[in-house]
Amino acid sequence: MADSFQQHRQDLAAEIGSDGIALIPGGVETIRNYDVSHEFRQDSDFFHLTGFTEPEAAAVIVPGHPDGDYHLFVRPRDREQEIWNGHRHGVDGAREHFQAVAHEVAELEKLLPQLAAGRSVLYHRSGSPAHDRMVEKLSEKARDYTTRTGLPMPLTVADVRPLLSEQRLRKAPSELESLRAACELTAMGHREAIRFARPDLFEYQVQAAMEYVWREGGSSRNGYPSIVASGPNACILHYVENDRRLEDGDLVLIDAACEVDYFSADVTRTFPANGKFTGPQMAIYEVVASAHRKAVHASRPGATLRELHDIATREVTTGLCELGLLPRDAEDSMAMHHYREYFMHGTSHWLGLDVHDAGSYRVEGKPRTLETGMCFTVEPGIYIDPEREEIELSLLEYDYYEWSDRILLEGPAARAELDEAKKEAGTVRHPVPQEFRGIGVRIEDDIYISPDGHENLTAQVPVDPVEIEALWEEASWLPRAGA
Ligand code: GLY
Ligand code: MN
Ligand code: MN
Repeated sequence: MADSFQQHRQDLAAEIGSDGIALIPGGVETIRNYDVSHEFRQDSDFFHLTGFTEPEAAAVIVPGHPDGDYHLFVRPRDREQEIWNGHRHGVDGAREHFQAVAHEVAELEKLLPQLAAGRSVLYHRSGSPAHDRMVEKLSEKARDYTTRTGLPMPLTVADVRPLLSEQRLRKAPSELESLRAACELTAMGHREAIRFARPDLFEYQVQAAMEYVWREGGSSRNGYPSIVASGPNACILHYVENDRRLEDGDLVLIDAACEVDYFSADVTRTFPANGKFTGPQMAIYEVVASAHRKAVHASRPGATLRELHDIATREVTTGLCELGLLPRDAEDSMAMHHYREYFMHGTSHWLGLDVHDAGSYRVEGKPRTLETGMCFTVEPGIYIDPEREEIELSLLEYDYYEWSDRILLEGPAARAELDEAKKEAGTVRHPVPQEFRGIGVRIEDDIYISPDGHENLTAQVPVDPVEIEALWEEASWLPRAGA
């Protein structure tokens, strides 16, 4: 891994050049209550460049600087603090183990202008209030310095994120190995969750079995809070309470993953709590599975995530129409975006150090073309509100992407304009068949784009309903309480 951090710094240095300097703050601890902090996890951009996992650090990259290209500012050794809160590398440790010119973090404000002198552009990762203030002060100083000396000092502050995002988008072989390990272990946990789940268990008990496999297998942390959603909870996209008791006849939707070397998987499976899909559950499940299969199949260099979403959307829409969940035919339902009543999220996002990883989705306005090394999810779903007996849908045909862009730029006014146009176009009411209400299904896998197509990194968890039912029948690895 150390080699990859160095490579990332070299790549960034090449991008910013000898006229630039980059400041990348690390993460800081946040208080949960009184003197207890939330679990700390290093900021992903900072980790990507440094591999340094302590809080309150900052990295400065100054290509070609006589004192060194890479400066790391860290907390000093402190016996008292280390007794209470754990080991610190300190300045000497940072120098020795992280190949940096190391300083105490308290020196940053003083040294930043010295490192920046003679350079025109500061690439900054904003969002950390203390560092944002430091950058503001540097800009003020730069105006005076430049006026008096005629020498450059950064008058221009640029966002470093797009440069780092481009790097993070394409996974190097060692990074792919870490992601692959996270995916394999995540898959083992999901398999155990399916074996372990039974009616009457609480969602958090199923979660515990899955997460035990991850901890035992060498992952110290989850990539995001686990969603273990039984019955109607499956229709809540970001459900995290995980405190309902599984009932006979429920589906269980689990969206959860572990991290390995800071890389996170992102996997969802949906299965019956009692091991047998009902007819309506199977009907919805097969529509989602088909959308998932077709979108995964289309993943290859040269394709775009938008194409995958369009494939999944068409498949889901066709299925919804066939099952009587939408009033019009598939063409109208696509053009009027009626499918969004039941499939209201995207099909894919980048995956890596963050579950919703860095990387822009369009390049110069056009959907980005997939390249070898890119990793992302494919995750179609259908969620049928348990409480809605009837839906009301607008008959307006509109370009969803165009309107999303307008709403992004113009905010609530554009949204209100679209709502008005939808109203004017008239609406159609449609009853939601009772047998489908409360069913939520999502199927999510992690895809790596290889030179000749793709690899599904999480294919070890079955999607086929027959295989899921067979896995449920297997004995769980872990004992259940009272069993
Ligand atoms: N687990 C979050 C997502 O699927 O995007
Ligand atoms: Mn996802
Ligand atoms: Mn997910």
